[in-house]
Amino acid sequence: MTIVGISDGFRGVIEENVRILQPEDFSGILTRGGTILGTSREKPFKSEIGHSDDIVGEKVTAVKKTYHKLGLDCLVVLGGNGTNTTGYHFAQEGLNVIGLPKTIDNDIVGTDRTFGFHSALAIGTEAIDRLHSTAQSHNRVIVIELMGHKAGWLALYAGVAGGGDVILLPEIPYNIKAIGHHLEERAKSGKSFSIVVAAEGALSIKEADMDKRDRKKYRAENGPSVAYRIAREIHEETGMETRATVLGYVQRGGIPSASDRVFATSLGTAAADLLAKGEYGRMVALRGGRIDSVDLSVPAGHVRTIPADHYMIDTAIAVGTCMGMD
Ligand code: F6P
Repeated sequence: MTIVGISDGFRGVIEENVRILQPEDFSGILTRGGTILGTSREKPFKSEIGHSDDIVGEKVTAVKKTYHKLGLDCLVVLGGNGTNTTGYHFAQEGLNVIGLPKTIDNDIVGTDRTFGFHSALAIGTEAIDRLHSTAQSHNRVIVIELMGHKAGWLALYAGVAGGGDVILLPEIPYNIKAIGHHLEERAKSGKSFSIVVAAEGALSIKEADMDKRDRKKYRAENGPSVAYRIAREIHEETGMETRATVLGYVQRGGIPSASDRVFATSLGTAAADLLAKGEYGRMVALRGGRIDSVDLSVPAGHVRTIPADHYMIDTAIAVGTCMGMD
C-alpha cells in the first residue's frame, strides 16, 4: 500500500495538502501525543446538512476532486464524532472510507472505548491528586473542570480514580442544594476540604429546564466555564471558600498512556486489515472485549453519553460520592 498523509484533517483534502509517507515518517511516533499530520476542525458538510440534500457545497466537491485526482482507494479518518460523521457522509457520496475512533471524550457510538481517553484520564486523575494538596492545606473547596464535550466519561472516571467528593456530569443535572448539603456534612464530619469534579458539559437542573438560547445567554452572563459557575454557586450556597481550576488542553497533550498505545495499535492494524480486504464504509471498534468494526452509519450523528444505569455511576455513589442529586 502507498500511504498518502493528509495535513490538517479535511482542510488538507480540500486544499490538497498531501505528501506520500515513507516508513521513516512513522519512526518514533509511538510515544508522541497529538498528530504528526496536524489537524483542523474543518467539517466540509457542516453548512449543507440541514439545508437541502441536493446541495453539495464547494468543499465537498473539493474533497471528492482531491480523492479522485490522487487516485485514492480509501480515505482513512481518525477522530471523534465530527470526523466519523463526516466520513460517513463521504461514504454516502461514494468514497471509500474507514474510520478510527480517536477522542479523549470516549463518546463515540459503536465502540466501547476510544483511544486518547485513557491518556486524558491519567492526566485528569493526576491533576485531582495535585489539587488535594491545596484543598487540604487551605481548607478549601476546589472545583476542577475536565473536558468531555457533551459526555461525562472523563469526569466520572477521573473523579472516581482521584477520589472526588462530588462528581457532576452532563447526564445528571445537578441540584446545588444537594451539593451544598453534601459539602456541609463533610465539613461537620471534620473534613474541611472537598474536591468537586465537573465535566465541562455539566449543568444545573435550572439550566436543564432552559431552552438552548436562554441557556446560552445565562452562561454568557454567569461565567464562561462551568467550574467558575459552580464555584460561585457553592460559595453562595455554603459560604465556603471555593476555587476553580480548568484543566483545558493539558488533558490532550504529552505522552500517550501504555494502554492507549496498545489499543490504538490494535485498532490501527484492524483498519489495515479492512483496507486489505476492501471492506469500506466501516469504523474499527472495541466491542465486548473484541476488536471489531461497525458500519459508519452507527456512530454518525450520535453521541455516546453515560447510560443512567452504568456501573460506574453506582460505583461512585457506593463510595459516598455526591452526584449532584438529592
Ligand atoms: O473532542 C475533544 C475535545 O477536547 C472536547 O473534550 C472539547 O470540548 C473540545 O475538544 C475542545 O475543542 P477545541 O480544541 O476546538 O477547543
